[in-house]
Amino acid sequence: MVKVGIINVTGYAGAELARLLYLHPEAQMACVTGRSAAGKALSQVFPHLWPVDMTVVEELDGVDFAFSALPHAASAEAVAPLVRRGLPVVDISADFRLTDATEYQRWYGVEHPAPDLLPQAVYGLPELHRAAVREARLVANPGCYPTGALLALAPAARAGIIEPDVIIDAKSGVSGAGRSLGLVYHYAEANESVSAYALGGHRHLPEIVQELTRLWPDSAPPRVTFQPHLIPMTRGILTTCYAPLADGGLPAGEGAKAAVRELYEEAYRGEPFVRVAPEPPQTKHTWGNNLCLVYPTVDVRAGRLVVVSCIDNLVKGAAGQAIQNMNLMLGFPETTGLDQPAVYP
Ligand SMILES: NC(=O)c1ccc[n+]([C@@H]2O[C@H](COP(=O)([O-])OP(=O)(O)OC[C@H]3O[C@@H](n4cnc5c(N)ncnc54)[C@H](OP(=O)(O)O)[C@@H]3O)[C@@H](O)[C@H]2O)c1
Repeated sequence: MVKVGIINVTGYAGAELARLLYLHPEAQMACVTGRSAAGKALSQVFPHLWPVDMTVVEELDGVDFAFSALPHAASAEAVAPLVRRGLPVVDISADFRLTDATEYQRWYGVEHPAPDLLPQAVYGLPELHRAAVREARLVANPGCYPTGALLALAPAARAGIIEPDVIIDAKSGVSGAGRSLGLVYHYAEANESVSAYALGGHRHLPEIVQELTRLWPDSAPPRVTFQPHLIPMTRGILTTCYAPLADGGLPAGEGAKAAVRELYEEAYRGEPFVRVAPEPPQTKHTWGNNLCLVYPTVDVRAGRLVVVSCIDNLVKGAAGQAIQNMNLMLGFPETTGLDQPAVYP
């Protein structure tokens, strides 16, 4: 049993980590930290975690592996000393996702607290960087929106069947914004309403561009418009991506649909957490599990690739993917503790 710790169990991502780690047969949750909840029983803070008999403490101690679910900047400050003394860490915050500290400061508005650690951080999307994650001591867990968008676009980008000019239209439930209070997340504001936000550019955009650039055959940065929306549900992200087809990449006419499906099935063959769905998927099909469902097709009249993906933002978009990364880093089978079906209805 590996002793694992959660830094900041009191947010949604931290609580979801605790729920999933409780079910992990190779990991023992040995320490959970939280600022305002220190000294309280975890089951008092989160009644749904009643079987977990643990007290929230202020400082991480006595663990062989750590997850950080702190907000950005606070996370790098907490994680840096652990990484420097050799503890393997998965950071769920944005702090180690961007390779460039200047780009980080531009989007997050603060100086990076540990830029010296950026070269060793691995972007933890296992479907793209599995071999590097296996060798890493510091894994930057991807953002929730980038997870859905990159898994939707990666096979097409890599195969060069689309032009590097992508529109990503994504809709997230309110847990994506965390537990902190905000007027737009009040029931009366969010319920029965849908809104677009961050029209000037969302913080997940540079991360998406960084990773798509690595995939594109000619490695010029693709043009990406990423537009998030808030919708009245608790969990889940539905992403629809659009890109013009490159000349000659797919057969002409209706045959393009079968060809693109075949390309995606081949790309994700053997992937435990990505399924090419037979029908356009719904977020409900991924509630509480680590799956990403992907549905690629072609708008033949417009000559455009259309790909829909669904994830649970707190599982494949955060805690589940973090455990998938831990499994790889520690040499456990990748699906350990993560093979539960979704909750339905
Ligand atoms: N929500 C998602 O879907 C999601 C997905 C992927 C990644 N993430 C990332 O995961 C991290 C946590 O997100 P979340 O949604 O779980 O957040 P959250 O629910 O809003 O939780 C934030 C918690 O962090 C604590 N906190 C805030 N500032 C702190 C500081 N400076 N030092 C110590 N504790 C502090 C607060 O605890 P106190 O009440 O004790 O102050 C609060 O409970 C973020 O970096 C986020 O970007 C979230």
